Amino acid sequence: MEKRTSFVNYIDNELHFNGFKINDLKGKYQTPLYLYSKNVLKENYLEFDQAMQEAGINGQICFALKSNPNLALLKGLKELGAGADIVSGGELERALNAGIPADKIVFSGVGKTASEIDYGIQSGIYSFNVESLEELDLIKARAEHFNKEVAVAFRLNPKVKAMTHKHISTGFKTHKFGLLAQDIIEIANNSDYWGNVQLKGLSVHIGSQLTELEASLEAFKKLADCANALPQELDFLDVGGGLGVNYAGDEAPGIMDYMNIVKEGLKSANPKKVVFEPGRRIVAQSGMLITSVIRNKSSEECNFLIVDGGMNDFVRPSLYGAFHEIYEGTTSTNKIKTDIVGPICETADCFGESRNLAKMHMGDLLAISHTGAYGYSMASHYNLRKKPIELLINEDNKIEVINEQIGYE
Ligand code: LLP
Repeated sequence: MEKRTSFVNYIDNELHFNGFKINDLKGKYQTPLYLYSKNVLKENYLEFDQAMQEAGINGQICFALKSNPNLALLKGLKELGAGADIVSGGELERALNAGIPADKIVFSGVGKTASEIDYGIQSGIYSFNVESLEELDLIKARAEHFNKEVAVAFRLNPKVKAMTHKHISTGFKTHKFGLLAQDIIEIANNSDYWGNVQLKGLSVHIGSQLTELEASLEAFKKLADCANALPQELDFLDVGGGLGVNYAGDEAPGIMDYMNIVKEGLKSANPKKVVFEPGRRIVAQSGMLITSVIRNKSSEECNFLIVDGGMNDFVRPSLYGAFHEIYEGTTSTNKIKTDIVGPICETADCFGESRNLAKMHMGDLLAISHTGAYGYSMASHYNLRKKPIELLINEDNKIEVINEQIGYE
């Protein structure tokens, strides 16, 4: 089971995040801000890495940068041995800047442009995870242009339905992602496609925030079947990301259960190496969004706590109706039911409805939990607001500013 709230607790009514007192930020930093814990990040990475080893899998973690591309965090992950799963030229540049070796980088995504492909080829990345025939044609043409050998993997669309929010379910044939097995097998057998480009792997990714593993098992079995049907011997199978976390309770699978599903699913193909692309599972729990109370307001039976963070800073509740725990910086037994809302001019700008929180006042801090993944990375300047700053609690329990506030044009 994921260690849900073990990093968050109250000591003398004051909220602590892995031993750091949230109220210590008061008056020192402008809110809203993202606060990360280096130790929590490290623990989550090592938990994944060790589980891989315990399961006897020869694996490589390629951290999904889209979940959190902060340079300081990436440098920390690189020190632990992480590679990167990237989906744009910008993410490739960031991964390389963090010192992640090119031969640990896989490039996913349905819309890689010619210049992004060139950048990937020239950087010598481990693999392009190819999602269409036209993409393969372009990679081949560019590989010939540079006279380089380029490794590719096909992303399989396994035609399975993952039980998750429809916006982040990606493994069914009506989704834009991947290629069907019969098409992969046909292309693999057609020598016209192969020359400077070589088929080295297969990948699959059926969705994100997966809390049930039945569909994953089915997808991994189909991945193995597809690998077994190819004429080429592969270097790796890539099982994507997607493992869920406990936002609301204990919905997320245990890490060993997940590894056992991977092993069981891929058994018949006996892969030399397995690539993992986790994002959320590594980084969600490592971050909190800290926001201050602007004021209280009530409207008949509704109480609103208006805070200085908004949906531009953290969009998951507005976009997916996602639940995130919200903690008051100082708690008390005097609780009221409140909607926690931001300053943005949309009713969707709400972090939580009917939450039982201590009565709070202007300047008091709140912390929104599990916001390390798809938090800052999805922030925008909507309503011409600045993006939040990012802080890190380092190993000595001291704060480091790891991203100053970015202005707007
Ligand atoms: N690999 C591929 C090919 C992906 O498309 C994704 C996520 C991942 C790996 C990482 O998945 P993770 O382990 O983080 O679940 N913004 C949404 C999530 C979008 C996920 C997109 N793809 C959210 O906030 O829930």
